[in-house]
Amino acid sequence: MDFFNIQNSDYIENHSSNERNILAELRRETELKCLNPIMLSGKVQGIFLSIISKIINPKNVLEIGTYSGYSTLCIAEGLGANGIIHTIDKNEELLEIQNKYFEKSGYRNQIKQYTGNALQIIPKIKVNFDMIFLDADKENYSNYLNIVAPWLNKGGILLTDNVLWHGKVLKSSETHDETTKLIDKFNKELALDSNFKTVMLPLRDGISVSIKL
Ligand SMILES: C[S@@+](CC[C@H](N)C(=O)[O-])C[C@H]1O[C@@H](n2cnc3c(N)ncnc32)[C@H](O)[C@@H]1O
Repeated sequence: MDFFNIQNSDYIENHSSNERNILAELRRETELKCLNPIMLSGKVQGIFLSIISKIINPKNVLEIGTYSGYSTLCIAEGLGANGIIHTIDKNEELLEIQNKYFEKSGYRNQIKQYTGNALQIIPKIKVNFDMIFLDADKENYSNYLNIVAPWLNKGGILLTDNVLWHGKVLKSSETHDETTKLIDKFNKELALDSNFKTVMLPLRDGISVSIKL
């Protein structure tokens, strides 16, 4: 069994904790009603995000790429008592499903949604973060890194999703399309960035975990 088949096997899913009922419901509704439901983090990555958030117990979190709100609710599980997750998505059509599940979740008062281009919204938030989840347009990952780095507290955690890009970054650079080139460039920049210590994990589509030094 090769690497990607191992990742896709049921074994990992079956030997991780159960998905909370509300998350299973949101996942199903996303699959039925939203375009590209493959974008949703899913059970295993969701539990990973929840555990990281519970370890950090963050006061302020920034999420770039809300989609239907699945990862938002996973991260919210670890928020401190007065903690807030600021979450941004450019697609206003997603607000209905987000609001339905944010309401149901009990975290409504701890979730602040922003609708629009994250590159323009982030500089206006003006909050220091303990945790950032980067999961929006992959082409702008390097730009996001420059914009968010100053707002992440020392010891804060940056999580970046899809860094393996379906395995495309592992292939010869001559085969790279534009998005793959930009993700590969970002991966190299992050690994060399002296402001961060980073490990790339082969979880799902690849997730980099970086601590701000
Ligand atoms: C991979 S999905 C996020 C998945 C979500 N974090 C989860 O795990 O369930 C990426 C989202 O980023 C949003 N997005 C893409 N480019 C954006 C931008 N420039 N500003 C804000 N949101 C953007 C898309 O509308 C999409 O909903």
